[in-house]
Amino acid sequence: MKNIVITGGAGFIGSHVVRLFVNKYPEYKIINLDKLTYAGNLANLKDIEDKPNYKFVRMDICDFDAFYKLMQDEQIDGIIHLAAESHVDRSIKDPFTFARTNVMGTLSLLQAAKLYWESLPEKYEGKRFYHISTDEVYGALEFDDTLFTEETKYNPHSPYSASKASSDHFVRAYHDTYGMPTIVTNCSNNYGPYQFPEKLIPLFINNIRHRKPLPVYGKGENVRDWLYVEDHARAIDTIFHNGKIAETYNIGGFNEWKNIDIIKVVIKTVDRLLGRAEGEDLDLITYVTDRLGHDARYAIDSRKLQAELGWEPSLQFEEGIEKTVRWYLDNEEWMDNITSGDYEKYYDEMYATSLPVRPLKQ
Ligand code: NAD
Ligand code: DAU
Repeated sequence: MKNIVITGGAGFIGSHVVRLFVNKYPEYKIINLDKLTYAGNLANLKDIEDKPNYKFVRMDICDFDAFYKLMQDEQIDGIIHLAAESHVDRSIKDPFTFARTNVMGTLSLLQAAKLYWESLPEKYEGKRFYHISTDEVYGALEFDDTLFTEETKYNPHSPYSASKASSDHFVRAYHDTYGMPTIVTNCSNNYGPYQFPEKLIPLFINNIRHRKPLPVYGKGENVRDWLYVEDHARAIDTIFHNGKIAETYNIGGFNEWKNIDIIKVVIKTVDRLLGRAEGEDLDLITYVTDRLGHDARYAIDSRKLQAELGWEPSLQFEEGIEKTVRWYLDNEEWMDNITSGDYEKYYDEMYATSLPVRPLKQ
């Protein structure tokens, strides 16, 4: 594999994957393809933007013509596809955008890759389309000790998870129908640096810093399974290089937390690191109306990945959350640029053109 496109590389997880690949594989050309929606932020990649094996391309994954041309021009061997609309609350307000990007965008990439790779003498030999998905496609678990395995039936509930489930099906269909070398992975909730502050952990860290209310949905009893983002990026590296074609791997760290418990850990950690009395901000907790269709519990069984490919999470949660809180407190400017909207002005200066979106071609 020489020329690799990573879609969504200016987002939270994508930026960690781009950084890992650019630093670890100087012999690869890594192309970060991102539309720079509200969730994309090139400041996430400041430390690697000048590396010779890194290139940024602003593109919408729904733009079939542009992506097909990029495949040809850059002779792309591998695609690691993370670009998506990723926030459940936004999907409840605006499902169409999720269907467009997550479903049609993924299909557009698949079709362009198919046409390009099938035009080569070696066809699919040495090629790979790796699709990053989520545990939410499996639906919700009861409050018991069951886990999502790779065999769990898809049962998505939110417009976000329905769109991700649909894209997963398209990826598998391109393997089963055309023989495209695809892989799908389904990961649990990620946390760590560079996460957009609409998601629970960075939103709450920032609110605690400014002593703003912490909106806990429902009773705070929903359970999520948390994985440090760099461990996800390492799993993606392992699977991209050593995973079996057409397989699915679940990624998770066996680290379930009730929302209210993780919120209390975050509050106490922020208080301690800011030199406040530990727990003095617990009174910022504010119970609010529940998220519509709020999934009760997610929990991933990642034993297949651990047994077959030897991946393991590297960080204990206590260490990961301490590192994460410290990072957000040390990077106030990054956070303030987002909350003020300044980070988006930077794109307008750099990329004056608007992005045309053309329909999918046969
Ligand atoms: P994110 O919202 O932080 O980043 C998404 C990125 O995709 C942004 O840079 C955005 O600009 C880009 N993008 C969006 N629409 C685009 C389009 N039409 N064309 C090109 N680029 C576009 O998301 P994230 O949390 O980093 O998630 C990345 C992927 O991992 C997603 O596919 C998500 O479903 C999956 N995932 C996320 C988690 C999690 O906990 N965050 C867990 C499991 C799986
Ligand atoms: O499970 C993987 C998924 O994790 C990814 O596929 C999604 O892209 C990612 O956004 C995440 O989805 P969640 O909905 O679980 O993450 P979020 O951070 O939005 O919420 C975590 C939990 O906290 C969830 O139960 C809802 C709750 N919550 C969230 C917010 C933003 C609150 O109680 N208050 C809040 O303000």
